[in-house]
Amino acid sequence: MLYQAKQYLKFLKKSTNQHGVHSPFVYNLVTQCFYNKTKYKDYTTLKQYRESLYKNNTTISVTDFGAGSRIFKTNQRQVSKIAKTAGITKKRAQLLYRITNYLQAKNTLELGTSLGLATVALSLANKNGNVTSIEGCPETAQIAKQQLEAFHCKNTTLKTSNFNTELHQLNTSVFDLIYIDGNHQKEATLHYFESLLHNIHNDSLIIFDDIHWSASMTEAWQEIMKHPKVTVTIDTFFWGFAFFRKEQEKEHFTIRV
Ligand SMILES: C[S@@+](CC[C@H](N)C(=O)[O-])C[C@H]1O[C@@H](n2cnc3c(N)ncnc32)[C@H](O)[C@@H]1O
Repeated sequence: MLYQAKQYLKFLKKSTNQHGVHSPFVYNLVTQCFYNKTKYKDYTTLKQYRESLYKNNTTISVTDFGAGSRIFKTNQRQVSKIAKTAGITKKRAQLLYRITNYLQAKNTLELGTSLGLATVALSLANKNGNVTSIEGCPETAQIAKQQLEAFHCKNTTLKTSNFNTELHQLNTSVFDLIYIDGNHQKEATLHYFESLLHNIHNDSLIIFDDIHWSASMTEAWQEIMKHPKVTVTIDTFFWGFAFFRKEQEKEHFTIRV
């Protein structure tokens, strides 16, 4: 926690809004997508999806696959509490929706479905496309599956498996947008990144969640920034964006969202 607070202070000092951003590509992304204040109709569905989870008092047995929880001490957890603590926030789900929309991302991949709070955003923003989402915990995945069905997210394929197993089976699949939100550990994050380099194209975007969750996650992010295939990066504190567009200069931005 102390680490995150220190990192946040550094971020506040360094970060900017669109002013001073000379890259038209990043300027447009920031002004037309990050700061887009449109109240999309689909935001109501995102809200309903969230509210229905907040009302769900079922207790499930959670299998821990990732870096572990800093909140829960046992593996018996109430769905409503998982939604409130492990799920993407309302603001970020809306941002993910806008990004998917803005990039016209058709094939999207999420590592770490949890209860599907981000999956539903990817699904609604991408009605003519496909969302693949991977979740290792069977009981969590089962609730996500029921929720996504109840909200008619038919373009979503949920895979209940370990990330590593699924990543090795992606073969030639190519994704426009990849959202990595699970197992926040340096080696694992770098492994997912390296593996997914086989499944992207020039205009793909990979979003890494919680890049300042720990010192080792910041190290992972710094290695990703340096990678020769990565051109533009944006640090928004909670998310790191990696772009691969060959036509862009290698340039790193720190933007307040
Ligand atoms: C922070 S939660 C995801 C939140 C979700 N993306 C959302 O927006 O609400 C991370 C999830 O990743 C899953 N996970 C972590 N490591 C995994 C692994 N190695 N394989 C499969 N699932 C994993 C956990 O079980 C957990 O449900």
